[in-house]
Amino acid sequence: MNERVSDRSYDWRTPAGLTLATLMLSLNACAPSDDYQKQSPVPTPTGSTETSDVPAVEIEPIEAPSPTDIPTEGYYVETSPADTTTSPEPSPQPTETEAPVEPSTTPAPTEDPTTPADINELTGLMPPEHSQTVDCMVQKCIALTFDDGPGPYTEDLIDHLAEYDAKATFFLVGDRVDNYETVVTDLRDGGHQIGNHTWDHDDLTTKTNQEAIDDIDQTSDEIEAVTGVRPEVMRPPYGATNQRIVDALGQPQILWSVDTQDWLYRDSDYVSSYVLQHASRGDIVLMHDIHKTSVDAVPEILAELTEQGYVFVTVDDLLGSDLEPGRYSQQEL
Ligand code: NI
Repeated sequence: MNERVSDRSYDWRTPAGLTLATLMLSLNACAPSDDYQKQSPVPTPTGSTETSDVPAVEIEPIEAPSPTDIPTEGYYVETSPADTTTSPEPSPQPTETEAPVEPSTTPAPTEDPTTPADINELTGLMPPEHSQTVDCMVQKCIALTFDDGPGPYTEDLIDHLAEYDAKATFFLVGDRVDNYETVVTDLRDGGHQIGNHTWDHDDLTTKTNQEAIDDIDQTSDEIEAVTGVRPEVMRPPYGATNQRIVDALGQPQILWSVDTQDWLYRDSDYVSSYVLQHASRGDIVLMHDIHKTSVDAVPEILAELTEQGYVFVTVDDLLGSDLEPGRYSQQEL
């Protein structure tokens, strides 16, 4: 796991010639296995965790909550009655016999569905285009990313983001998609980017090449079946990847440059404070929308960073949409 990301065979540059900064591999990015929890000291909020490949950053102390709610099993341990709200939408009432058309002398004003959003709303088929108006060479861009969903709080998160016209990237777990189809289509319709986070959150480095390919393909098939769009980027669970997996999958692997450890510190104030203190231009911020505390932290993040002039964009908008296979965690601007 402690492979060096400074390996010169990885000289990731965008087509614009922008150097992509160091990879951060962190074992504890997602909720760890039980074994890992038992062996590992509880990380402090001073950044002294397994992020040795990332240059040390002076971190102002944050009042951290006691991580008494460390997840004890699995990576998505939070459940909610809201899970039951994802039943299929009611089908429209069958229309009765043809209703008489009201005579009208003046045609109702209608607007031409000329924008992609309009057309999408009408057809439900056309994926929204990524924002074409954000130029991260000019504007202060940050990419918020959310892993392990969709979940019971994702819809709230979509609403929070919409209030600020913020776009984000969601790395979905394949076997959760079926239970949250409406949420997933709402992500698409909101202009957010959807990435692949494997079918069941397995460590891909433990799989054979073919097993890893099948895992990613199964997940992308599921997402494409729901959204009509096949994910072009993925994020390996736990950040666990290597050259073999990169070569086998042949996809851009999006890691991160700011790890909130929100799965450990289930405290909204802590999560928002951490982001506000650490995130800056070009960063990719890792959070998990399966935790209510993380979703609840987002409004303050959006409000404060918007006030500071930041723009929230998708990974595609930040890094460019024609990435080559490899590992990306940041863009230096
Ligand atoms: Ni994850």
